Amino acid sequence: MNVIEQFSLKGKVAVVTGAGSGLGLAFAEAMAEAGASVVCADISGAGAEHAANRVATLGASAIPVTCDVAEEGDVARLFADAVEKFGRVDIAIANAGIADPNPSLLHEYATKDWKRVMAVNLDGVFHTNRAALSQMMKQGAGKIINIASMWGLAGAATVVPIPAYTATKGAVVNLTRELALEYAAHNIQVNAICPGFFRTRIANNACDDPDFIAATTAFTPMGRIAEPDEIKGAVVYLASSASNFVTGSMLVIDGGCAAR
Ligand SMILES: NC(=O)c1ccc[n+]([C@@H]2O[C@H](COP(=O)([O-])OP(=O)(O)OC[C@H]3O[C@@H](n4cnc5c(N)ncnc54)[C@H](O)[C@@H]3O)[C@@H](O)[C@H]2O)c1
Repeated sequence: MNVIEQFSLKGKVAVVTGAGSGLGLAFAEAMAEAGASVVCADISGAGAEHAANRVATLGASAIPVTCDVAEEGDVARLFADAVEKFGRVDIAIANAGIADPNPSLLHEYATKDWKRVMAVNLDGVFHTNRAALSQMMKQGAGKIINIASMWGLAGAATVVPIPAYTATKGAVVNLTRELALEYAAHNIQVNAICPGFFRTRIANNACDDPDFIAATTAFTPMGRIAEPDEIKGAVVYLASSASNFVTGSMLVIDGGCAAR
């Protein structure tokens, strides 16, 4: 097949969690620009609407769904809505995630914060992957893309102490490998993207803080942080037939941080 055709998502249906801002919005746009219909899910109803409107302006079909990925009932309803509207789910992007609410060394870390980061970043990926796999097993094909982090491959404390975040992202990395093996023979590919520093609203808009930008820029070998648009090519690759023999991989997009 022609290589440009391999990257096309024409006729596909994608579910994106956390689509309301940042990387999730870029993923929703990328799905639409490559030809897919998009189910835009976010804990913020306004965020889900914003993403669906943005997809519609790109000429693709979209529905907004308000969904807290930490709630398994919400996620079950999200996939039921997707199947009711579009008849199938070809691509699931488990993107919704939060930073540690109060970064601190572990001996001072609050249990409440630990539990919420686990609930969103790990339980949320479990709920999303399970609902997606159940639909994809019926279809006999699918693509799952989990959004981990470079902090799923290494500790973060030389920049900022975020123990719950790094624990969840490391777990998402190994869950991705586990699911890649479980579903390899079922024509379902499961991969992860491990971003470095991207300019989004995560961590209470830390990107508005000049000290944060200075620290992250200094840590990044390329000497800058990335804009959300710079992740679009990676997600289309993993969502499309261009990656049909790729499963269990971690696609690192970090300006060279993990190469150290
Ligand atoms: N920005 C970065 O530098 C960076 C780096 C590595 C990994 N990531 C990962 O990328 C993903 C997206 O982060 P971002 O930087 O775009 O953040 P962001 O805060 O800009 O966007 C996150 C979106 O997820 C939504 N959300 C939050 N909790 C949710 C929940 N429980 N259920 C559903 N939606 C929820 C928010 O409303 C928001 O729209 C996260 O998993 C994050 O860990 C981000």
